[in-house]
Amino acid sequence: MNAQRSIVDFGLTDKVGLVIGTGDGMGQATVAALASAGANVACFDLERDAAAAAAKIAEQAGRNALSLTGDATRREDVAHAVDETRRVLGSIDVVVGVVGDGAKKGARLLDTDDDAWNRIVEICTKPAVYAVQSAVGPMIEQGGGGSFVFISSIGGLSGLPGQAPYSAAKAGLMSMVKTLALEYGMEGIRFNAVAPGIIHTPEIDRISTPEHLAVQTKQVPLRRMGRPDDVAKAILFLASDLGGYVTGQTLAVDGGVTGKYQMPAFWAEWEQD
Ligand SMILES: NC(=O)c1ccc[n+]([C@@H]2O[C@H](COP(=O)([O-])OP(=O)(O)OC[C@H]3O[C@@H](n4cnc5c(N)ncnc54)[C@H](O)[C@@H]3O)[C@@H](O)[C@H]2O)c1
Repeated sequence: MNAQRSIVDFGLTDKVGLVIGTGDGMGQATVAALASAGANVACFDLERDAAAAAAKIAEQAGRNALSLTGDATRREDVAHAVDETRRVLGSIDVVVGVVGDGAKKGARLLDTDDDAWNRIVEICTKPAVYAVQSAVGPMIEQGGGGSFVFISSIGGLSGLPGQAPYSAAKAGLMSMVKTLALEYGMEGIRFNAVAPGIIHTPEIDRISTPEHLAVQTKQVPLRRMGRPDDVAKAILFLASDLGGYVTGQTLAVDGGVTGKYQMPAFWAEWEQD
């Protein structure tokens, strides 16, 4: 009788992941999660230090790692990152797209000019497009199989005042994974997204006050902000064999926020504690 396969076999041992955007928020946590599950990891970031720090985390977990610097909104930089990942680490099996616009204060659409629109939509979507265009071919050459996970946002599932380009771009990512799942399912390549809610990253601390965060936290059904590793664990599920029959989906990692019917009088009673 065959030995029973453990359900927590991620299937990532000696597989190679490329993480695009490896700063000290969800990117670094994702590198740590992939490495802890057995993957070797290429860490790509605009900032040399962010790429190097994340690569060090993967090495400390006993994996091979590669630090790459470039601009993920430039096709040639992403293509180069994919080539280098394959040359140095041997293959490309998982791609995680983290880069996106931070939760900066925006403006209503009539006050959003073309430059602001293009900048936000580009940063939220181009890295994903170029990653797919660069890595799907090599995955097929390797014999098929592979997994892409993109970080979207609950701002793409629900409305977010002052953030029309961000909402449109993040909703676009969720829509894109559905189409890509259909286009490349026959090659065994999966495409999914995660939609984080309020995640307590260093960037959130830089742009918010503790008072504002306390008010926001009260509105979360689980009564806490998410941690970068909450998102990284969801990414690990989707990227690995644990999510092997999941494709074209978006998993909200939001403490229950998007399940909440916004009826102010009703919620006021629940938010008093
Ligand atoms: N923090 C939240 O509460 C929250 C909520 C929902 C969604 N998100 C999304 O999660 C993702 C990660 O957020 P975070 O706060 O952890 O990230 P972050 O902004 O801390 O890190 C992103 C990394 O990407 C790098 N980067 C930026 N532009 C780049 C480029 N052109 N090329 C290569 N690298 C580039 C940055 O240097 C940084 O290291 C983003 O897509 C964001 O929109 C965040």
